[in-house]
Amino acid sequence: MQKYDILIIGAGIAGLYSAMQIPKDKKVLVVCKDIPWECNTFYAQGGMVTALDEDDVPLHVSDTISAGAFHNDKEAVEIMSRTSIETTKDIIDRGMEFDKDSDGNILYTKEAAHSVERIIHAGGDATGRYMHYFMMVENTHQLQKNTLVYDLLIENGRCYGVKASVNYKPTTILADHIIIASGGVGSLYEYNTNSRTVSADIHGICVEKGIALKDMEFMQFHPTVFVDTPYARKLLLTEALRGEGAWVVDDDGKRFLFDYDDRGELASRDIVARGIFDYKQKTGKQAYLDFSMFEADWFEQRFPNITRTFGTLGYQLPRDRVPISPAFHYANGGIACDTNGCIDGMDGLYVIGEASRTGVHGANRLASNSLLEAVVFAKRVADYILNQKDENIQTPKFEKDYANILHQKSDKIYKQQLRRVMWEDIGIIRTTKGLHEAKNLIYDMKNRNIGRLLELRLNTASAIVDSALARKESLGSHYMEH
Ligand code: SIN
Repeated sequence: MQKYDILIIGAGIAGLYSAMQIPKDKKVLVVCKDIPWECNTFYAQGGMVTALDEDDVPLHVSDTISAGAFHNDKEAVEIMSRTSIETTKDIIDRGMEFDKDSDGNILYTKEAAHSVERIIHAGGDATGRYMHYFMMVENTHQLQKNTLVYDLLIENGRCYGVKASVNYKPTTILADHIIIASGGVGSLYEYNTNSRTVSADIHGICVEKGIALKDMEFMQFHPTVFVDTPYARKLLLTEALRGEGAWVVDDDGKRFLFDYDDRGELASRDIVARGIFDYKQKTGKQAYLDFSMFEADWFEQRFPNITRTFGTLGYQLPRDRVPISPAFHYANGGIACDTNGCIDGMDGLYVIGEASRTGVHGANRLASNSLLEAVVFAKRVADYILNQKDENIQTPKFEKDYANILHQKSDKIYKQQLRRVMWEDIGIIRTTKGLHEAKNLIYDMKNRNIGRLLELRLNTASAIVDSALARKESLGSHYMEH
């Protein structure tokens, strides 16, 4: 049996940056479900917010809270914004290269609902990939792939470790401290921008163990996604495109978003996503992202990956416009925790990054605050753990094991049904009737002969639908049609 000081579940930016804070003399294991770059960080395009300086903190806080429909935890937002100055400096000092102008000054960009340019980026439109690669190289601790966690070992308010399938072999991993950094819930939705590994398993275990999830009704949909691909992960067209001046138009070239909000393309993400969804439904017209205002060389240099990816699909950018649809992008809610990542009533278990609900995002996350939240709270959880006294923890025996029932034959069909119902009934526009129908279907599936992993997904889906039913009025990304 393996025993560690600290076990980190997830090798995205949150998991890796927390590992980077922990000295080499601690026995740390970072695990990920598949290969390490199959995580949402890898696919993040636009950038990472950073407060420009102390003077920018109040404005960043107020932008974050306005986008979040004033549902945010203000103290958590202030901590995130203030700490960004220190974490961004740390990441740069360690050697991460963000994009610079020809004089060597860092370039800042803007995305929707930001008052000023305060987003740093790398590789043009490959910020997540560059940061992930950098942190993979910087991490000095053991990283173990193909490790699918299917249970948390909990007794009397303490977590002692996990049970996981490691290269398909059931394995118990014990640790004094376990940090959940497993990301969000993307695979629950038919149309999503997430890595295929992000499938809400750990959220589902938390539901089973009575650990609170919070703000689960606030699922975020990205407005500009190319969904016409056969793969589960749909192709994001970063919000930075609109930040730099791209338009959303219909078949006739009309910039219809001004019918929904005076800020047009730069309204907050929930408003833009809903506007596109509604306009397409009402008019039967297609919506496009139009880049024709950009000069070709500049565009290719600023958005090299998008230019290349869409080139292979037959779109010549910036000349051609691309058809778009909103798609699920990010879980604003998650496993409830405080600003050190601690989970109420649970010793030894912590949560950071998209898996967590710190309260920083409120009802709708401000663009590019996700990579920032991940690094700030990754640092804070590591600091918190390193300040704890060592205890001689005696591990109880955990007999129950689900290894032989992770999957059942019909799971694939049910998963597909679940993804469809999540998209149609717990998606961008919700009705009480639709939510009840979804709840019934989820309940019905739970009572069938299903595997453990599907059961965990269904636990999380139930938490989302129950939160959505409990919030009768619209707020941020939770929109109820009456
Ligand atoms: C994007 O590049 O549009 C995504 C950034 C984010 O999710 O904040």
